[in-house]
Amino acid sequence: MNDPVAEVREVAFDPVQDGRAQREVRVELRRRPEPKAHRVDPSQMPRSGPLVDSYNRIHDDLRLSITDRCNFRCVYCMPGEGMVFQERSELLSFDELYRVASIARGLGVNSVRLTGGEPLIRRGVVGFIARLGALGFEDIAMTTNGTKLAEHARALREGGLRRVNISCDSLRADRFRAIRRRGELDEVLDAMSAAEAAGLGPIKVNVVLIAGVNDDEVIDFATFGRETNRIVRFIEFMPLDAPGHWQRSEVVPGARIFEQINARFPLEAVRSDVIDPAPAQRFRYVDGKGEIGLISSVTEPFCGTCNRLRLTADGAIRNCLFSNDESSIRDLLRSGATDAQIETVFRQAVWGKFPGHGINDPGFLRPQRSMSMIGG
Ligand code: 5AD
Ligand code: SF4
Repeated sequence: MNDPVAEVREVAFDPVQDGRAQREVRVELRRRPEPKAHRVDPSQMPRSGPLVDSYNRIHDDLRLSITDRCNFRCVYCMPGEGMVFQERSELLSFDELYRVASIARGLGVNSVRLTGGEPLIRRGVVGFIARLGALGFEDIAMTTNGTKLAEHARALREGGLRRVNISCDSLRADRFRAIRRRGELDEVLDAMSAAEAAGLGPIKVNVVLIAGVNDDEVIDFATFGRETNRIVRFIEFMPLDAPGHWQRSEVVPGARIFEQINARFPLEAVRSDVIDPAPAQRFRYVDGKGEIGLISSVTEPFCGTCNRLRLTADGAIRNCLFSNDESSIRDLLRSGATDAQIETVFRQAVWGKFPGHGINDPGFLRPQRSMSMIGG
């Protein structure tokens, strides 16, 4: 049991008595609510049906990281030099990834997203998508930095890829280079056009905003989205950068972005009849010129409807970006485990999920793995 922590509150007032100001300090002791203990009863874990956690959240969206490597070194993700990558033998092979994906499909996973690192720098990814396509997922998507997309867009579309999210954090070439440290803005803009020409539109453009770095481009990005019919998604900077430099003061709150855009181009919420588990709060322009997304992971966590599960490139199932609690299935895969054994690890990983990521809790510790080692 955790000891309840007393919260000390000082209420000061200065009554004047006998001409002398007296300062009285009243100390009020209140009990801070006990930190939510996370206890799940393993005997209650369902052995059949969809992947559900102890808060009744059904998990049907799997993010498969296929490599932790990347040809960029974005400031919010990696150090400029010296990032250490996993040995190739530590990464799951495409056959192993395929097996995991098919087991997940059997457990009710409907949508799969390939992530990394940069998924398109792994050789063989196009053929892998085609294999995934045959498993009958409702949706196959990818998050990419765009550098290799133009050359593969058509084959990816034919293989069954439906959608792409392309990261682009500045529309100014010099600033783009400063944030991403490698690559060119034009190449990424060309990739967006190539993706659209291949039928992968409407594409989403992921913009990580950092206060004092690129938050003066909000209106430029809104205008860009309106003119190109691309869905710009503004993502709050999260404490997942490998160098560990993240500071709360660098987070640009989604609410502020909303106000800024709404004042210039009026917005209205996109409402849906079903609970939308997507992390982005969606808004459309009242004049019909498209929509934006706000991913306010830090200031407005959306854990309550989370339906996502992740597999890291080295074969660990993670139930949350921010948790350190992960279950490796690589050794199981390599030692002749049955599908049923792997299914059980999936079920346990989901069942043990915490109610929320806790970034705003006083004792929050950032996860040991950074974004590119987890998969976005
Ligand atoms: N905070 C927020 N978003 C991040 N991404 C990478 N690192 C961070 C971070 N520290 C984004 C990338 C990409 C997606 C996978 O996650 O820009 O769009
Ligand atoms: Fe690469 Fe994406 Fe990390 Fe940038 S954010 S370094 S593109 S993995």
